[in-house]
Amino acid sequence: MAPFVVLDDVHVSYPSPGPGLEAPRILRGVSLSVAEGECLALLGPTGAGKSTLCLCLNGLIPHLVDGTFRGGVHIAGHSTREWTPGELSQTVGLVFQDAESQFVSMTVEDEVAFGLESLGLPPDEIEGRLAEALEVMEVGGLRSRSPLELSGGQKQRVALAAVMAMRPRVLVLDEPTTNLDPVGKAALLRAVSRLRVAWGTTIVWVTQDVDWVPHLADRVAVLWEGQIALEGGLREVFDQGALLRRMGLRVPQVRELAARFGSTGLGGYAWLGVDEAAEALRGRLGG
Ligand SMILES: Nc1ncnc2c1ncn2[C@@H]1O[C@H](COP(=O)(O)OP(=O)(O)OP(=O)(O)O)[C@@H](O)[C@H]1O
Ligand SMILES: [Mg+2]
Repeated sequence: MAPFVVLDDVHVSYPSPGPGLEAPRILRGVSLSVAEGECLALLGPTGAGKSTLCLCLNGLIPHLVDGTFRGGVHIAGHSTREWTPGELSQTVGLVFQDAESQFVSMTVEDEVAFGLESLGLPPDEIEGRLAEALEVMEVGGLRSRSPLELSGGQKQRVALAAVMAMRPRVLVLDEPTTNLDPVGKAALLRAVSRLRVAWGTTIVWVTQDVDWVPHLADRVAVLWEGQIALEGGLREVFDQGALLRRMGLRVPQVRELAARFGSTGLGGYAWLGVDEAAEALRGRLGG
């Protein structure tokens, strides 16, 4: 499939913190592409620059964030240098790591309707999309609450509902499951998965939750010291357990379990999910 999101040798530095101090170089030649309809999981230790990379995808970098930007980012064939963040916002929806920072309204329902109103959509279309997004994200009961007064997990779901209602062709999720309990995580990932099926949305998903990666991602990329250190299919990347550990990351626990069996009678497995492991073990152990 044709690449839909392309980063070509992207360099980003934030302004120098003071006179005589070097400007921190965060991205140092990131090249990456994501095909239309694909879900790419982006891993990387804290401070690696994952959120910075997300800001490059919706045009906040280079348009609104101070610092220097080199290289190119193309979304659906358009350079982010030429598209304004306003134009980009109709194609790329970013759910920020700090969901609260994106709230602009007094109620959940206004928050979700805000972007739709700014598109000038007819009222019944707005109401339809609003109701759908609230239901899918399971926040319908919070319609008249202030988004600022919700729990961390509820805030994340409202922020995702607001972005989802815009039906962006590219959805960028910056650690969307951080504040969710396991049931909430599973529900959110199911909702994102339904979006993909319904609209063929291309997804860039920043996460630390490696155990959940196989539930949604087609491919994985690892950002390390400002560059993409590893990129490939899930098995290819999670086969590099030792390298990932050196970068402060880990592989899914089920994959780790398979690795621990090593050269025993149960060796030679490379499971990524619990179902896959259970199936293989049932076969081996009989019954
Ligand atoms: N606006 C800014 N000005 C200056 N430095 C910044 C700015 N935003 C981020 N940084 C610095 O850039 C580096 C990368 O930050 P970024 O938020 O992109 O990392 P991250 O990989 O998302 O980390 P985390 O996993 O903790 O969310 C960090 O050292 C951070 O302090
Ligand atoms: Mg971050």
